[in-house]
Amino acid sequence: MDTTKLHDIEACVFDAYGTLFDFNSAAGAARDELGEDWQRLSELWRLKQLQYTWLRGLAQHHADFWQVTGDALDFALATLRIERPGLRERLMNLYLQLSTYPEVPAMLRELKNRGMKLAILSNGTPAMLAAVVRNSALEGIFDALLSVEEVGVYKPHPAVYGLAAERLGIAPGRVCFLSSNGWDACSAKAFGFRVVWCNRFGQAPERIPAAPDGEITDLSALPAVLDR
Ligand code: LAC
Repeated sequence: MDTTKLHDIEACVFDAYGTLFDFNSAAGAARDELGEDWQRLSELWRLKQLQYTWLRGLAQHHADFWQVTGDALDFALATLRIERPGLRERLMNLYLQLSTYPEVPAMLRELKNRGMKLAILSNGTPAMLAAVVRNSALEGIFDALLSVEEVGVYKPHPAVYGLAAERLGIAPGRVCFLSSNGWDACSAKAFGFRVVWCNRFGQAPERIPAAPDGEITDLSALPAVLDR
């Protein structure tokens, strides 16, 4: 871990998909129908979902993440020529029940016991975030579930990161933001948060403005980074 301790952190703000919740677990749970295509479908679904958020942002054609996620799934199913009755609906429902990465519940409890404020800041709609938190038995642990729907534009627009600082009432320099998405980590740092990149997927650093303060490979390493 190439992360020195971060001091004076009052809140940890987490990205949702890929950081706390395993987006591959949706297609993985439908392996019985998807067979060996499940990983290709999952990869394409995620890639397209993110592209659509950026494209809609640039074109100023916002639609919420439930629609974007469904549109991306339609694209991925069509690309792989998968047509099965009821499969789309099944996969969308599975997106509301994504698995939590194994280290997440204990890590959150440890930070909460230390008096750290905890929040999610995500592209997901309020209903999507409430469902995935409820279905992973993490209800009550977060001080706030913050959705980009409050600002009507997707990450990495600075208004999204600004929403978290404003709603928590904490200066950006006292917030530690966590994301497995390199682009999200860099953009949060450019906004002014302290940032630890949870590089679960062993990705190369992004070539966009601002570098995270530190990097860990999963969230079990987070409590040791914070001195609170
Ligand atoms: C989110 C996506 C970017 O949760 O993972 O906002």
